[in-house]
Amino acid sequence: MTAASDPLAGEGWLDRVHCEDALQGLQRIPDGSIDLLIADPPYGLGKDYGNDSDKLDTVEYLRWTEQWIDAALPKLKANGSLYIFLTWRYSPEIFVMLKQRMTMINEIVWDRRVPSMGGSTRRYSSVHDTIGFFAAARDYFFDLDAIRIPYDEQTKKARSRAIFVGAKWLEMGYNPKDVWSVSRLHREHKERADHPTQKPLEIVERMVKASCPPGGVVLDPFMGSGTTAVAARRCGRRFAGFELNPDYCELIRQRLAALAPSNQQDEQVTG
Ligand SMILES: C[S@@+](CC[C@H](N)C(=O)[O-])C[C@H]1O[C@@H](n2cnc3c(N)ncnc32)[C@H](O)[C@@H]1O
Repeated sequence: MTAASDPLAGEGWLDRVHCEDALQGLQRIPDGSIDLLIADPPYGLGKDYGNDSDKLDTVEYLRWTEQWIDAALPKLKANGSLYIFLTWRYSPEIFVMLKQRMTMINEIVWDRRVPSMGGSTRRYSSVHDTIGFFAAARDYFFDLDAIRIPYDEQTKKARSRAIFVGAKWLEMGYNPKDVWSVSRLHREHKERADHPTQKPLEIVERMVKASCPPGGVVLDPFMGSGTTAVAARRCGRRFAGFELNPDYCELIRQRLAALAPSNQQDEQVTG
């Protein structure tokens, strides 16, 4: 590939979902250019993404995980951060890998609000994702005000004891906790696209608003249905990402094209 035809050369890598293997594409993203990494890799559970990416055995899966982590982390700016979606099966091993390279800020539990209808019979039914939040350095970017959760009038009134009046958390909203209770995207959900592990915009937009400055760049090595790209556009951030499955790349193109005109840009999916 010549420099002229390389979609990742120069500024051409920005605001694009590249339909290729993240391990290849990451090599051409400039080091120190990314504010926020959002990674939602295959979980090592054998899910079908139209490829074999989730069919590795434990040893291969952890080896591959370490490879992409080492390819992705140098892309972060000095005050950048990473959110990684995992399940309980491999979060212990992967958190250890990341703690050797970054500062762990939070373990966030995403309660997927799975309805109670029977479930596992020889263990407790697993109804959450484990999300790791890591920072490259102690002075990492974090905009708490952008993600405060406002009180409704009734609750606000109930908390309005004299000692609390004027408190920022009461007036502007409270600080989100580390358990995020957000419904998974069931088949009839209005946001739902044709992808088996699509994440809710509410979750990804909170990450973007808190951890990427306006106009900054979010990188997602495993785009899937493109939730990170859509969230970045809706929040006025730039993005780049990779996805192996060409059908999902087309899905991302459609989701971006369906955004309001103020969130649109030209060519968005390459490869
Ligand atoms: C868990 S899903 C991501 C879902 C996404 N966060 C969403 O909201 O739709 C993981 C995705 O990574 C893709 N993938 C797996 N291995 C990859 C690789 N080496 N490079 C790029 N994409 C890959 C899979 O095809 C799958 O769509």
